[in-house]
Amino acid sequence: MIQLKSGIKRLTLTDFRNYKNLRIEAEIAPIIITGENGSGKTNILEAISFLTPGRGLRSAKLSEIKRIHSIEDTNILASDSWSVAAEILKNDEEHFIGTALQKMAREYESETDEAEEWRIYERRIVKIDGQKISQQAELGKYLSAIWVTPQMDRLFLGGPQPRRSFLDRLVYAFDLEHAKRTANFEHLYRQWFQMLKNGIADRHWLESVEADIAALGVAIAAARRELVARLNTFITYEPDDIFPDVRLELDGLIEKMLDRESALKIEDFYRENLARQRRNVLNNESIDGVNRTDFKVFFKKKNMPAELCSTGEQKALLVSIILAQTKCQILDKGFTPVLLLDEVTTHLDDAKRDALLEKIRALNLQAWITSTEPQNFTPLKNEAQFFTVNNGNVFSA
Ligand SMILES: Nc1ncnc2c1ncn2[C@@H]1O[C@H](COP(=O)(O)OP(=O)(O)OP(=O)(O)O)[C@@H](O)[C@H]1O
Ligand SMILES: [Mg+2]
Repeated sequence: MIQLKSGIKRLTLTDFRNYKNLRIEAEIAPIIITGENGSGKTNILEAISFLTPGRGLRSAKLSEIKRIHSIEDTNILASDSWSVAAEILKNDEEHFIGTALQKMAREYESETDEAEEWRIYERRIVKIDGQKISQQAELGKYLSAIWVTPQMDRLFLGGPQPRRSFLDRLVYAFDLEHAKRTANFEHLYRQWFQMLKNGIADRHWLESVEADIAALGVAIAAARRELVARLNTFITYEPDDIFPDVRLELDGLIEKMLDRESALKIEDFYRENLARQRRNVLNNESIDGVNRTDFKVFFKKKNMPAELCSTGEQKALLVSIILAQTKCQILDKGFTPVLLLDEVTTHLDDAKRDALLEKIRALNLQAWITSTEPQNFTPLKNEAQFFTVNNGNVFSA
């Protein structure tokens, strides 16, 4: 099968964290970025993650990304804005995509007098091939990125929220609507919750919002189930030779109901269940639904839940999931993702580290890999592009 190339050819950052101006000419190949702590390796990966829908690989606030620099040693100044732009290949086709922070002003009618008020707010704008695009989710049609960060070393240990977001990002890659659905769900759910808390919602409004939340919720649950089934099937038929096979499960009320009931029936149940739980909001009790679903991972051969696996095993399980996802995207969708692997070799033993690099090489894609230890990457010395980062400057090594 011919694998068409997708990834970044040229990346430009402006006032993005510790970069005033940065331009990188990249190849569709492994890209190794090394440099000491605090030099700016992760920032490059974060910038690329902003070329996909969502809040980037650090879930950062948009304003904290503006470049802060000190003047005359004592004062600090933040830039007005920041931007990331790229010339990319999507299945061999060239496109230009970019995103930036933009200040906007919105007019409000003052509640107290006739005068109009202007409020300034900031938002992320998106451009694709020179056109301003209102739906951020559109970016997903041009670039798909899968990331592993050091924060994810604890993915299997804490509460379900980060696991759920991780899963939802995997779903976006196959179903762009899922990004819109989860964003809409969260927005409506927050509104519903706030109105109940403030005691100002009327019955008709509540009923209509509950119906919308239920419809979105069931669609979200169904899309998650599809992804989990897809990856489980893939892993059963194409087990990995080095990394442990995983078994994935969804632990959620609505997802489980879809085993037995029709989507329509569950939607009715979800809607009625929300209405029944209105009082829970006031009592600060939790509300059942897809906002509480957990994504469970097991070390298949040992039948061991990931949270009980060793640190290195957990890292290996995470690698297994993203390798399976990557291969599924290539085979089922014909759209190769870019991998953003921040310090991915930490906790892996030498054999697993070399195996991972070999697998990345064989996948024939663009993988941005950061590390403080350049000597780990000699197995890729003929294939990869090497950069070193020093204090906001990037050098070709
Ligand atoms: N808004 C900002 N403006 C300027 N500098 C910033 C901003 N946000 C973060 N930084 C700085 O950018 C530098 C590089 O951060 P980054 O996380 O990319 O480092 P790194 O090379 O990945 O380091 P490590 O090896 O420790 O992971 C840090 O010193 C950080 O304080
Ligand atoms: Mg880092």
